[in-house]
Amino acid sequence: MNKRVRNSVAALAAAILITAAPAQAYEAGDWIVRAGPTGILPVSSDSTDVPGIPDSGVEVDNAWTLGFTVAYMFTPNIGLELLGVFPPKHDINGDNSISSLDTIATTRVLPPTLSLQYYFDLSPNLHPYVGAGINYTTFFDEEGKGALNGTNINLSDSWGLAGELGIDYEFGSNWLVNAAVWYIDIDPQAHIRGVGNVDVNLDPWVVHVGLGHRF
Ligand code: NI
Repeated sequence: MNKRVRNSVAALAAAILITAAPAQAYEAGDWIVRAGPTGILPVSSDSTDVPGIPDSGVEVDNAWTLGFTVAYMFTPNIGLELLGVFPPKHDINGDNSISSLDTIATTRVLPPTLSLQYYFDLSPNLHPYVGAGINYTTFFDEEGKGALNGTNINLSDSWGLAGELGIDYEFGSNWLVNAAVWYIDIDPQAHIRGVGNVDVNLDPWVVHVGLGHRF
């Protein structure tokens, strides 16, 4: 190689090294935006009896949607994060003595969750974190199905606590892959016209995997 080519190769190698250099810990003032498939999984949902029907109840099915989080770093370790989703449609099914009724209603769920987070400095590229926060959930487009076809159903809004675990793996310049899970206390009351009220324990696990970017 002549000198000019050698210099060019050296410059190229240096550029690649700089590009591939390990990412740095998060910094105060960073915004971290993530998006990807998100499951709202009320795996152990249950409820009080449907009025007038002993040992009955309802349970809420899983639903998947697109979710996103936006976090702002106040310090290299402390962030505030908002979780949002495009409201998925969940089936509400009869439970226990009325489980044979299958789906008796559907509803859309919008559960924004605000969490205060702590990020650990394990390595320059890996940012695991824990969070705790507050959830507000509102329900809309409630519809009676099957045995409750045509029945007016309304689910009340719910406020509750949320806990979160997550991890970012940073690659390239400021891109990251993310996995996170929340456990959220969501306890609405279902008002079924002509039947009565049912207290529902939704309490879903919310799981999220996605791509992210830090700004
Ligand atoms: Ni609960």
